[in-house]
Amino acid sequence: MPIVVVVGGQWGDEGKGRIVDLLARKAKVVARYSAGNNAGHTIVNERGEFKLHLVPAGIFYPEKTCVIGNGVAIDPEVLLEEIDNLEAKGVSTARLVVSDRAQLIMPWHKLIDQLDEKLRGDAAIGTTGKGVGPCFADKVARRGIRVADLLRTDEFAERIKTVLEFENRVITGVYGGDPIDFRDCLETYREFGRRLHPYVTDTQAVVLDAHQRGEYVLLEGAQGSLLDLDHGTYPYVTSSVPSSTSGGAAIGIGIGPTDIQRVVGVFKSYCTRVGNGSFPTELEGEIANRLRDHGKEYGRGEYGTTTGRPRRIGWLDAVAARYSVRFNGLSAVALTRLDVLDGLESIKICTGYELDGKIVNTVPASLSVLDRCKPIYEELPGWRKPTTEVRNFDDLPEQAQAFVRRVEVLLGCPVDLISVGPSREQAVIVNPIF
Ligand code: GDP
Ligand code: IMO
Ligand code: MG
Repeated sequence: MPIVVVVGGQWGDEGKGRIVDLLARKAKVVARYSAGNNAGHTIVNERGEFKLHLVPAGIFYPEKTCVIGNGVAIDPEVLLEEIDNLEAKGVSTARLVVSDRAQLIMPWHKLIDQLDEKLRGDAAIGTTGKGVGPCFADKVARRGIRVADLLRTDEFAERIKTVLEFENRVITGVYGGDPIDFRDCLETYREFGRRLHPYVTDTQAVVLDAHQRGEYVLLEGAQGSLLDLDHGTYPYVTSSVPSSTSGGAAIGIGIGPTDIQRVVGVFKSYCTRVGNGSFPTELEGEIANRLRDHGKEYGRGEYGTTTGRPRRIGWLDAVAARYSVRFNGLSAVALTRLDVLDGLESIKICTGYELDGKIVNTVPASLSVLDRCKPIYEELPGWRKPTTEVRNFDDLPEQAQAFVRRVEVLLGCPVDLISVGPSREQAVIVNPIF
């Protein structure tokens, strides 16, 4: 049975949580493979509205096993709070398992994230400030602390003592900050360890065993491909190792690339970005405000799930999207928030960039070059009828069908799923993904 990856195709917040919640119906295991609680995945289903940062979106189905894989950076405080909130709302976390190989976000990571942004001044990345970048930097520097360490009480104390000596030198010497107290940190994390212990296991085996038994497995990406360290708009990217692209899914769970059968890329029908960095199709003014504030009265506008920051808005960038389709090896696109375009007189799609009088068809590596790229737009007629109640492709307004068909051609990938609202049932399944 297939292992399917769900990956964000743009700059994050494409609606991955919503798509995973829908596709999880058929899966037996749903596993998060990268990032940390910089991610915020919104799920609206019969149990209400939830904003998940670490727990996979399969948690709402009682019979699914939900995995937080080795590739995830875990802030135990955030995870425990998320577990408590879910349980308080009647959602059982009994089938949640956490990898013993996952990295831990420690107090110094959060502090360094904030101090580092301050030090960068005007060149700040616009991080979520959750310590995710410094945690992955320490993972690569072989200074990370893992969930397995947390469970070995004596070794844990030794380990954080050594690491904290180094981190405090950085905090005070490089950033001029206040050092972190070893005892406080030790006691707090010992308590986290005690509470997390029952969830911790070898999650690689959980996924591979399910796969071998012939069960469906869904791998949930976080963030977006254009925030990837290698292929994104570096340095205005996130620091996830493994990458938040489909390529990171195998590493972040501990399976082989040949175990993955399908990759679904989630794209909004337009673009958003939180934080700083290039955004060729960025819009300001009336249309941007209209798209940002769609559903705002229900708390569903384009404002960050994790930080509440207003998201930057732009037309769909088919150049960047096609680039993302190619390096993710996508089998299908899930197009979300089509309903947000309802009622617009016309809709633009960027089909190429103009640079010094020439047409560019892919995303240049250099940000100064990308910043000089001017989008070339194709304008399509909008539609007047609402799409939120539509469940069949043929029932979509003609212009909406034409928009979707044009997106398929420009991206070079079939649109198998269209989302027309935040709730589970507000979807048009063009071709079944599982
Ligand atoms: P994620 O990080 O990729 O899971 O996306 P977020 O949850 O951060 O942001 C997506 C937002 O769009 C959430 O508020 C979702 O509830 C909402 N959403 C998802 N799909 C649709 C859709 O088709 N229509 C509308 N109106 N909202 C949607
Ligand atoms: P989901 O999973 C949107 C962005 C931040 C910032 C950059 C680096 O909800 O799609 P970081 O804190 O990761 O060091 O910040 O990456 N970013 C996201 N933007 N959605 C996300 O996750 C993001 N995760 C990180 O806004 O620009
Ligand atoms: Mg999000």
